[in-house]
Amino acid sequence: MMVTATASQGGLKSHLSIDGGVGLSGVMTVSGAKNSALVLMTAALLTNEPVELCNVPDLTDIQGMGAILEALGVSVVRSPNSLKLTATHLKSSEPPYELVNCLRASFFSIGSLLGRLGHARVPLPGGCRIGARPVVEHIRGLKAMGAVVNVNHGLVTAALPGGLKRLKGASIVLDCPSVGATETLLMAAVLADGTSTIENAAKEPEVQDLANLLNCMGAKVSGAGGPVITVEGVERLHGCSAYSVIPDRIEAGTFLMAAAITRSTLRVEPVVPEHLNSVLQKLRDCGCQLEIDSVGITIRPGEIKAVDVITQPFPGFPTDLQAPFMALMATAQGTSVIAEKIYENRMQHVAELQRMGASIRIEGSTGIVEGVPRLSGAPVTGSDLRASAAMVLAALAADGTTQVSGLEHLDRGYADIEAKLNQVGASVRRQQS
Ligand code: EPZ
Repeated sequence: MMVTATASQGGLKSHLSIDGGVGLSGVMTVSGAKNSALVLMTAALLTNEPVELCNVPDLTDIQGMGAILEALGVSVVRSPNSLKLTATHLKSSEPPYELVNCLRASFFSIGSLLGRLGHARVPLPGGCRIGARPVVEHIRGLKAMGAVVNVNHGLVTAALPGGLKRLKGASIVLDCPSVGATETLLMAAVLADGTSTIENAAKEPEVQDLANLLNCMGAKVSGAGGPVITVEGVERLHGCSAYSVIPDRIEAGTFLMAAAITRSTLRVEPVVPEHLNSVLQKLRDCGCQLEIDSVGITIRPGEIKAVDVITQPFPGFPTDLQAPFMALMATAQGTSVIAEKIYENRMQHVAELQRMGASIRIEGSTGIVEGVPRLSGAPVTGSDLRASAAMVLAALAADGTTQVSGLEHLDRGYADIEAKLNQVGASVRRQQS
């Protein structure tokens, strides 16, 4: 049974109280990647044998996904170092609406349910504050593989037409390199009859992690991480033991920026450097020295200067680090232009940073950030997961104390963030509001 830890224990809201201006030192430990672990959990639906994942982060999103899988009949057993998922006897192919609605990654299970059972009914994932979050690419690809897919009353129903026992291999070209669509279609293709190709595929490390797990389960996937992925369908998949989730590159980037914004020398590990090259380049460009080895990175910030950023699909600068980087640029020398090209509404952290004295102007989905010598502590609220992280970074550097609310977002993507920050000398307290 999953043990759940939520930000608002007992229904009360809480906030982080952060004393700014404190230098950090030591080692910050990076957990397993949220955006990989979530989709790896849905891959367990593809086999009736146990799939054991290691290095799974302890996050509310992970607990949420566990609850969804249990509702489908999956046995979910969490131990300190592993998460064991056994989908021997599935009792449903309809993840419950109230659980899916707040966890977009659960929609990707439509691919694994369709591949395993030949039918699935999954609630359309709601849009969220950062954008509409469509799933057109997922649906187009499933149809190309022979599924009949209908969207009615907020439910996406997918099924094999009469007589078809398996999905058919297909050649699919995505209109945009959607991470979720690539992952959904990968999981649908591994048990299909024939070979599938996914062109204009997302190249994110999390896609590669999924392909590696699927191959450990007996799938035949090649090309993941590149623009064209080829999948030779097989009849069945077997289980997998002790598959270790990749380190969270977004958490690692966030911690590196915590060092930069507090002008502290810090070690961040584990990190896979090639998962963060675009971010490491920007950190160098803005004045940080980086010592990179096979385990992690030591960052030594100098004078932080303004640099421009455009968010792009991997290997470009990740949209999930746009808000944290903007917090850093708010304290840089000079003016930076930060353009958000992935989501239509991912600038909501700007107003909160302005409350702390940041000088930022928005033009469409671009922030023009004029660095200021010091931010000042104030009560602020994170509107989404990464905006909340940006507020924590700003609070670490600000004069005085800052109350950061919106922990229900923060706890979705950062395990034990106050413990990890206090371990390197920060002064962060979680308090009831
Ligand atoms: C994944 O979301 C991540 N979430 C997101 O992380 C991340 O921001 C995003 O990839 C981009 O890197 C998980 O992996 C659980 P997309 P996903 O489909 O798969 C458009 C976080 O903070 N699009 O690659 O939903 C879409 O509108 C979260 O950890 C279509 O137009 O992202 C968006 O503009 C936030 N049609 C862009 O592609 C489609 O059918 C990227 O979406 C699908 C997507």
